[in-house]
Amino acid sequence: MSDHQDSAKSAHRPPGYRLSAQGRQQVEDERLNLLEAIFDPLSHQRRDLVRPGWRCLEVGAGRGSMARWLAQQVGEKGRVIATDVDTSYLERFTIPNLEIRRHDILSDPLDELGPGSFDLVCARLLLFWLTGKQERAIRRMVDCLRPGGWLLDEDGDWGMVAPVDPSHSHYDLYHRAWKNGEWWAVRGYDPAFGRKLPFLFERCGLANIRHETSASVVRGGSPWGQWWRQSLEGIRASEQKDGTLTEERAEEYQTLIPSFSDSSFWFHTALIHGCRGQRITS
Ligand SMILES: C[S@@+](CC[C@H](N)C(=O)[O-])C[C@H]1O[C@@H](n2cnc3c(N)ncnc32)[C@H](O)[C@@H]1O
Repeated sequence: MSDHQDSAKSAHRPPGYRLSAQGRQQVEDERLNLLEAIFDPLSHQRRDLVRPGWRCLEVGAGRGSMARWLAQQVGEKGRVIATDVDTSYLERFTIPNLEIRRHDILSDPLDELGPGSFDLVCARLLLFWLTGKQERAIRRMVDCLRPGGWLLDEDGDWGMVAPVDPSHSHYDLYHRAWKNGEWWAVRGYDPAFGRKLPFLFERCGLANIRHETSASVVRGGSPWGQWWRQSLEGIRASEQKDGTLTEERAEEYQTLIPSFSDSSFWFHTALIHGCRGQRITS
């Protein structure tokens, strides 16, 4: 398939979430476990506005570490609802003030959650995947807030993952395959999505918007390197399943994936953005 046909195919079909646990329960459990170990410390700081007694909603809660942490923070007088399209990991919890709901933020009725009732609605590493529907998802999360309540999202500029040492033997090959993050764009995703959160929040009616971002330079084999390798392998498996894994793409994976296990390969991680905004109108 030519580049042109390839991009045309991707452009016509919203790609959606590429790392579903279906059929790969165990490896996805491991990948999400690593994700939590890497991102939780900063996510705790970014959620430091939560107070005892609050009612919180964690959307696309995954394996649930942030929902569990929120349940501890709000205490027995507070309540947390954790949603996901796949609740199989979340169902392992039995925590009195944590409720699990199978719910698609794009299409399931909000009445099931309690619109206008939450002090804090959070999501992490979810919106990026909802190509072309991010604003809809944000509006629906805003609808869940009580007036005065906060929306907090963390999402990445995933196009920025790239080596930093031009003398490394993988450097040129990597950049040829990665194409400055266009690797994501040909698949229908926005490689610089995370930085758009502040204006999307404002467009959806939020005020008092605060945004910051963070990144590191780490080596292959580090937790970030392992997690990224597993993420690329998961996306490759998904493309293989739905027939979009062209020969050219398979070769790109062959180039990209091994670098993330190589301790001499230093790379820049994605920028991970944290954005919060407040609903001020009823
Ligand atoms: C990358 S994982 C992140 C999990 C969790 N937020 C975390 O950071 O630990 C994205 C999660 O979003 C869920 N998801 C994808 N599309 C969704 C949708 N439309 N509504 C709700 N959850 C969704 C997936 O099932 C997955 O568990």
